[in-house]
Amino acid sequence: MRLTVIGTGYLGATHAACMAELGHEVLGVDVDPDKVAALRAGRVPFHEPGLPELIAQHTASGRLRFTGDYEEAGAFADVHFVCVGTPQLKGSEGADLTYVDAAFAAIAEHAGPDALLVGKSTVPVGTAGRLADTHTGAEVAWNPEFLREGFAVEDTLRPDRLVFGVRSKRAETILRAVYAPVLAAGTPLVTADLPTAELVKTAANAFLATKISFINAMAEMCEVAGGDVGVLAEAIGHDDRIGRKFLRAGIGFGGGCLPKDIRAFAHRADELGVSLAFLREVDAINMRRRDKVVELARELCGGSVLGARIAVLGAAFKPDSDDIRDSPALNVAARLRLDGADVTVHDPEAMDNARKVFPLLGYALSAEEALQRADLVLHLTEWPQYREIDPVRARSTVSRPRIVDGRGVLDADRWTAAGWQFRALGRPGSVGEELR
Ligand code: UDX
Repeated sequence: MRLTVIGTGYLGATHAACMAELGHEVLGVDVDPDKVAALRAGRVPFHEPGLPELIAQHTASGRLRFTGDYEEAGAFADVHFVCVGTPQLKGSEGADLTYVDAAFAAIAEHAGPDALLVGKSTVPVGTAGRLADTHTGAEVAWNPEFLREGFAVEDTLRPDRLVFGVRSKRAETILRAVYAPVLAAGTPLVTADLPTAELVKTAANAFLATKISFINAMAEMCEVAGGDVGVLAEAIGHDDRIGRKFLRAGIGFGGGCLPKDIRAFAHRADELGVSLAFLREVDAINMRRRDKVVELARELCGGSVLGARIAVLGAAFKPDSDDIRDSPALNVAARLRLDGADVTVHDPEAMDNARKVFPLLGYALSAEEALQRADLVLHLTEWPQYREIDPVRARSTVSRPRIVDGRGVLDADRWTAAGWQFRALGRPGSVGEELR
């Protein structure tokens, strides 16, 4: 089949490449000429394992092309996927629908009479219906996307489920044909009306965020009661109804999706006269974890971080990503810098992005360099290589052996045995032999 994918950011570039991988002829469309030029040259402007290879393969095979021209897009295909962003509005919790509205208007103007316009962006419920009622010359469907950064290709080619929000059998038939190989592999399909399809996405993200904040609230309890949230999570996770996933306590969630999506969801609920106020608490618990790390840093530095050299390991909002949007690690780093600390950040992938947005932080080319003469180490994004750091060697690099594990993945006993003062969120603190 021939398809277009409108918007070639994170979601769109992945979707376009994966649709080509499924055997379709795909035209990626973007209003940003730099993005189009980069993708045409096979350059992917963000870090995503496997995606550059897939784009190179299919630009070479001729199944994947990119353009900035909506007229060309309208003429190229009858199925158009809209994958543009829905960022948080400035000064409001709500979602900014400018890009979605503009993309639908632009493609509707050039699309043929049989066209199916398929939204994939995460939108406030009611958006798809409004677009369908506005652009009556074409049919509108909604096909939400659940991919995780770092697993984008895998999640698109082998998703847990597909959701089609449709108003007609025809739209469902077209989407079934698009995803035929994915469905043939046994992927569950849920067909729904437009509002349900939109809600599935926001509900899923709200649930995941709630799970993380739940365990982080339990971490707060453990901190005051002297418990260990790691053990608690394992124990409750053995109950199948609860499950072990997404119960990693730590500095909390960030990124371009969960934080803004729960805010937009609560906001949309208010507009519709329903209360999802608990999501504001989910958000607040999440933010308090960042405060906690700042507090711990102060405490470990003897009451103030003024003049302290602090090494921050990790800048991306999570490992295997160079995405720094709403990164808990950088939020903490910037706040400590504001409090007068001398902060040096390391990240294997996200340093260029971090430098642009936080030019006042220091940056080190390696974790070892960041640790040099540090008075305090903060482990804030759990890249696997940080688990390989040898606490004995690191002990001889730093000025003072003090570390906060903001992700709860470092081996406390190993670090303590090497003489470090070790603190983790929601877990009892420990002090190395040499410091006692
Ligand atoms: C998320 C959803 O998982 C995905 O389905 C949706 O389409 C977009 O939003 P993503 O933002 O890529 O995907 O990251 P994810 O892996 O879900 O992690 C989100 C955040 O939660 C990260 O900051 C991560 O560090 C944090 N997290 C995750 C925890 O703090 N604890 C956990 O147990 C799991």
